[in-house]
Amino acid sequence: MTTPVRAVPARIPALVRCDQTAAWQALRGHYEAHGRELDLREAFARDAQRAAALSFEAPEVFADLSKNLVDTATLHFLVEMARECGLEARRDAMFAGEPINATEGRAVLHTALRAPRGATPFDRFADEVNGVLDAMLAYAEQVRDASHSGIHDVVNIGIGGSDLGPQMVVGALDAYAAPGLSMHFVSNVDGHDLTRVLMRVNARETLFIVASKTFTTQETMANAEAARAWFLAQGGSDVAKHFVATTTNVEAAARFGITTTFGFWDWVGGRYSLWSAIGLPIAIAIGAANFRALLAGAHSMDRHFAEAPLERNLPVLLGLIDLWYRNFHGFSSRSVAPYHQGLARLPAYLQQLEMESNGKRVDLAGQTLPFATSPVVWGEPGTNGQHAYFQMLHQGSDVIPVEFIAVRAPSHDLADSHRKLLANCLAQSQALMQGKRADEARQERTPTAAVDFDRDALARHRSFPGNRPSTTLLLEALTPVSLGALIALYEHRVFTSGTLWGINSFDQWGVELGKALAGQLLPRLATGDVQGLDGSTAQLLARLRR
Ligand code: F6P
Repeated sequence: MTTPVRAVPARIPALVRCDQTAAWQALRGHYEAHGRELDLREAFARDAQRAAALSFEAPEVFADLSKNLVDTATLHFLVEMARECGLEARRDAMFAGEPINATEGRAVLHTALRAPRGATPFDRFADEVNGVLDAMLAYAEQVRDASHSGIHDVVNIGIGGSDLGPQMVVGALDAYAAPGLSMHFVSNVDGHDLTRVLMRVNARETLFIVASKTFTTQETMANAEAARAWFLAQGGSDVAKHFVATTTNVEAAARFGITTTFGFWDWVGGRYSLWSAIGLPIAIAIGAANFRALLAGAHSMDRHFAEAPLERNLPVLLGLIDLWYRNFHGFSSRSVAPYHQGLARLPAYLQQLEMESNGKRVDLAGQTLPFATSPVVWGEPGTNGQHAYFQMLHQGSDVIPVEFIAVRAPSHDLADSHRKLLANCLAQSQALMQGKRADEARQERTPTAAVDFDRDALARHRSFPGNRPSTTLLLEALTPVSLGALIALYEHRVFTSGTLWGINSFDQWGVELGKALAGQLLPRLATGDVQGLDGSTAQLLARLRR
């Protein structure tokens, strides 16, 4: 039994940009008076309730925000700002299918892909969405049964949103993978990428999924054509059986010679498309029931985003803190550290989700923004990152908020390893916050190699500034349901900051110029014509042709 997701607004509501609100001014004053100097160690010492007051529950995710440079007053002003900007009306307009992607004249309805039948306001899409979903899942189950399908390798050919989401989810849920079936992902137009996979597979036992929303993307088309040529050269004859397409451009797929196609709609953005037919590799890897569980997890977060008061709305709070760090503290990047090896590709996935969505510098009215937008998002799984760039997080000159993701129950039997993993995760956020004063470092035994080094200078090398902020997200276990909820949490967080910044988070014009120039340079690489090129490009092109 489902209850309605929320009232449907009749039109797209006007947006007020964050810097034009009274709350923005209040936040400026709050930052100068308290925010800039907030000391986390003192804040915890002063307030025994801080952890509880700044921790929040959303479906499948517990979030401890208390190690962030915020207090309840900061969150109050930020929430006020979200209200003044009209975040709630904008969110409702998205759920209602209003064309909020104004620069492309499109609705933004990835949430409709994971809504159960009967969940308003998505009912008008239920037939088409469920028609494709049912067909895709039935097909996935057939492929999954290797004893009948004869398929042992599945190669997804796609890039950007047609690669990162499926690849990340398949990796994260490998505990649910069908035995005897190997999943491969080819994205780069660099021939190394496809070649490394083709070397390992057998044409008769391989299914190629050509995944492309537009079915025009240069990299994907080049790889698909090369894969088909390889398949025929290997004696493969049944292209229709060994190639399927997931696309909104069914005609182009047919022209390619693909007869089995699972479609979707222009209201599904590429980086929001893993819930659509683009999720076919996920469905093949984890099966139909688990794919539906992934959708259900995402839907539970959709409902939380749609219904929870802003004060307890986790995607909203995370998006607001992102804005607080970017526009008030001036932090230009955020590091994501999933303490789960399965989430190794999550940072790469989030790079597209966040930076392609919010890496914009004009607002919806085309005005140049007087403030910064998307931070750089980057990271590696813990504990690996600790042995690479965490040095800089602890002692470098920039403050970089870190997001730790921990999973309580492992999906393996190595309990001792898991305890060590969790201890490291807790220790890192503790160390970032606590730091170590030079006088504390001075008390420590000096390593033998440094006996001649001035003790005070050495103590300064060995001290940590501390007060470095972090968020910790906890999942009970990494399951299709919890992963679905986690991804939707990130989607709505990006929506929140993008909305307050007044930008369109759903277009990506910034990728077009490079594509056009590559198209012009391609024939020049063959002919060597450098006429009219700048000196650098002409020189590099000439050297590459040698
Ligand atoms: O990089 C630009 C982009 O359009 C992304 O937004 C998209 O996910 C990717 O290319 C792939 O596009 P398509 O699915 O149409 O091949």
